[in-house]
Amino acid sequence: MTALTIQTQPIAGQKPGTSGLRKKTPVFMGPHYLENFVQAIFDVVGTKGKTFVLGGDGRYFNDRAAQVILRMAAANGAARVIVGQGAVLSTPAASHLIRLNQTDGGIIMSASHNPGGPNEDFGVKFNMPNGGPAPESVTEAMYQRTTEITEYHILQAQDVDLGTVGRVMLGAMVVDVVDPVADYADLMESLFDFDKITAMFAAGFRMRMDSMCAVTGPYAVDILERRLGAKPGTVTHATPLPDFGGMHPDPNPTWAHELMAEMMGTDAPDFGAASDGDGDRNMVVGRGIYVSPSDSLAVLAANAHLAKGYRGGLKGIARSMPTSAAADRVAAALGIAAYETPTGWKFFGNLLDAGKATICGEESFGTGSDHVREKDGLWAILLWLNILAVRGDSVADILAAHWAKFGRNYYSRHDFEAIATDKADAMVTALRAGLGDLPGRKLQGMEIASADDFAYTDPVDGSVSAKQGIRVNFTDGSRIVYRLSGTGTEGATLRVYLERYVAGPEGLDRDAQEALAPVIAAAHDLAGITRFTGKAAPDVVT
Ligand code: G1P
Ligand code: ZN
Repeated sequence: MTALTIQTQPIAGQKPGTSGLRKKTPVFMGPHYLENFVQAIFDVVGTKGKTFVLGGDGRYFNDRAAQVILRMAAANGAARVIVGQGAVLSTPAASHLIRLNQTDGGIIMSASHNPGGPNEDFGVKFNMPNGGPAPESVTEAMYQRTTEITEYHILQAQDVDLGTVGRVMLGAMVVDVVDPVADYADLMESLFDFDKITAMFAAGFRMRMDSMCAVTGPYAVDILERRLGAKPGTVTHATPLPDFGGMHPDPNPTWAHELMAEMMGTDAPDFGAASDGDGDRNMVVGRGIYVSPSDSLAVLAANAHLAKGYRGGLKGIARSMPTSAAADRVAAALGIAAYETPTGWKFFGNLLDAGKATICGEESFGTGSDHVREKDGLWAILLWLNILAVRGDSVADILAAHWAKFGRNYYSRHDFEAIATDKADAMVTALRAGLGDLPGRKLQGMEIASADDFAYTDPVDGSVSAKQGIRVNFTDGSRIVYRLSGTGTEGATLRVYLERYVAGPEGLDRDAQEALAPVIAAAHDLAGITRFTGKAAPDVVT
């Protein structure tokens, strides 16, 4: 087979964001687009003699992109690629395979929770040998490379059969097609007390898992229904589809409305959960009660020792800055370190690698631990199940007991989507310019204590990440954070994170939006959200 060298030219805008390069699918399918970016990856990380993992969330173009990437890996001299059957791997499973096989990293094809299809989103990202997303220094080098690229290498060959598990050759490169589920499911079995969860299901515990026509379907069916004995049919939307069945595979109350309706309805199961396009996010719901991701992180951290993989306790807890401080209270009670990082899972990698943190989480429905280097939806769901099996309490009881002990951090995120970029930028510029004048200002009966633009110094490598979100802290412990999304593909998305702490014992069971009303009003006042964006209300509330 001949390795071809194709002449190409830089394509503007191939700048990976917090989660790799994300664009509309037709953009990715354009001439040389995928090829240029993949060559930039290979040029930066090196390919000769290396082994990579390859897989994606099964969205439209996943299968064809995989064939291109395989041909390019072969032409660039890679020794071996481990690819999930059908070119499918959930993001956490890919992270696990990278680590388990001690590979040189991996390429994940996904646009996470964004819709898939011919006119929706596609994405490509590179994960390092530790299993985690490439750090900024590496993605920046990839971007630089895309601006100067003149050629790429690709093998002239037919498609590899990715439908059958086994070893095939592509030129001189080994392609190992593996079962996407088995190793990951074994890892879960090593961390959690499957016997206890099985006994709970056998005793009549009912669950609903909504895989949203995305990648977790086969994983959830194997683990929940086959290994743990949950009733067949527990997993719904279990067949991954290229367009996710037209669903928006983002596990939050807005997009997972079917699950929400069932959990809030009569005859709701004991426990509900959903995961996103590529399987790294999770939402958990109890019968009649929604668990906010910030609370979920805190509850999981406080109870992790009940699961066999975490019996020895936690080394530390890390959360992204906009995530509520509920987890910090657990860390303080456990006498372990609490870390506050910028948004994006990659910032947890160093803390996990250095053994400083065991559990991490983000308000954006991401939770995980040091078992992989990505957030992990099914992991969080299984840890909840393990805790429920050991404690024998309902989700509502567990939350109530948690708040009674630690107090409650009421929390919500309001997203204003598809704003004109210049308007969003103008709003943020105005906010930044006024930060110095904020302390002492009174709003909605609250007083501003401090305001800044979050900057983070990595405690492991000393690298500094500036301008990670504008924080406004009030004297009563309330907080507003403003941030522009780094993952949107249409205009700008403004995220406003709202938090208010109530120590209890009174006032712990209010509706979150209602409890946060003064903070929400203050957030609008301070930033002039409507004036700048033309929107009086958010598009998505979580
Ligand atoms: C969003 C979330 C962030 C998460 C990222 C990738 O990024 O807010 O917590 O790490 O997706 O899943 P954003 O669009 O806010 O930059
Ligand atoms: Zn995701």
